[in-house]
Amino acid sequence: MSDRLRVGLVFGGRSGEHEVSVVSARSVAAALDRDRHEVVPMAIDRAGRWADAGTAARVLESSGDRPDRVLAFEGTLGLDPRLVEHAVDVVVPILHGPFGEDGTVQGLCEMLDLPYVGCGVASSAVTMDKVLSKKLFCAAGLPTPDFRVVTSAQWESERIRCEARCLALRVPLFVKPARLGSSVGISKVKDATDLAAAIELALSYDDVVIVEQGIPAREIEVAVLGGDPPLASVPGEVVPGHEFYDYADKYLDDACRLLAPAPLEPAQAEEVRRLALAGFAALGCEGMARVDFLLDRRDGRFLLSELNSIPGFTSISMYPRLLGLSGVSYPELLDRLIALALARHGRRRRFAEAALKPLSERSH
Ligand SMILES: Nc1ncnc2c1ncn2[C@@H]1O[C@H](COP(=O)(O)OP(=O)(O)O)[C@@H](O)[C@H]1O
Ligand SMILES: [Mg+2]
Repeated sequence: MSDRLRVGLVFGGRSGEHEVSVVSARSVAAALDRDRHEVVPMAIDRAGRWADAGTAARVLESSGDRPDRVLAFEGTLGLDPRLVEHAVDVVVPILHGPFGEDGTVQGLCEMLDLPYVGCGVASSAVTMDKVLSKKLFCAAGLPTPDFRVVTSAQWESERIRCEARCLALRVPLFVKPARLGSSVGISKVKDATDLAAAIELALSYDDVVIVEQGIPAREIEVAVLGGDPPLASVPGEVVPGHEFYDYADKYLDDACRLLAPAPLEPAQAEEVRRLALAGFAALGCEGMARVDFLLDRRDGRFLLSELNSIPGFTSISMYPRLLGLSGVSYPELLDRLIALALARHGRRRRFAEAALKPLSERSH
């Protein structure tokens, strides 16, 4: 028997970021100190089936370090039985987008009573949902681009009124499915006559669509690591190679550039770090999140765009790079994330056990 911590590394998954997830998981596995951790690979295929232990290990070992060198595989299981059997001590979900980053895998871990890294169920679901996120930013008084919401039911019954509501904002507009990611289904609308087609494209991915005021902006990102208090990294900047940071820019070609740190004045960097922590708190995040901003070129204001509760973890990804620049090395980052997961689980258990005791035996 080894006393190493058994780390269930869950990767792959149904989303458009399947391959990125595998590459991220390879980086995580490579950075975990093997004297203290035993890596238990757990792979989900593109259709949502879990692979057996041998396949999962082979995918992790044999994939390359670029998304286009990832081994294709097929799972056969409804769920990895090692989770149910508690063959791991902590789960590290490295899944992006729906069915992983959105509270589903977190809910599974809760039901199985397993500690897991990162945001809880509700904050994972909220960060994945652009409408809910923005409502919470607004409730907390945090700046975010103005927006309108269009549902599929509204579009069917009162299309003219929906268009008029959206056009109260000025073009350019960004039209997005509320809960997706990877820029899939997103359009930049420069001409009002293109709005309807953009809404219909977004509705083909989700029942709820968000129409956002387009901002002439630089894109600034801050990595937040949970704790008491949470830590905000130095900011980084994404310089899109396309009209905006679209799917091709993110995954298909190398046109975009990541600047770490971002070239900002010290006061600007302070301001965006403060807002990152405020955004993290407003959405109830725990463990980790990458907080993305638009820096309005006209007035220098930072606007909260979105939070990613499971950011990319490849060796060149913004999240670990920014924390590295802030003095937290990649292995230390993993240690801290796992420690936070175990602490949260332990705390819950203590409170739950205390609640089972008769009142007379409770300490308070
Ligand atoms: N309101 C906006 N103003 C300007 N650019 C935007 C706006 N919203 C989105 N974008 C551009 O579209 C990209 C993708 O939008 P984002 O909301 O981050 O969706 P995703 O969750 O798919 O990453 C952003 O990185 C940015 O380049
Ligand atoms: Mg984004």
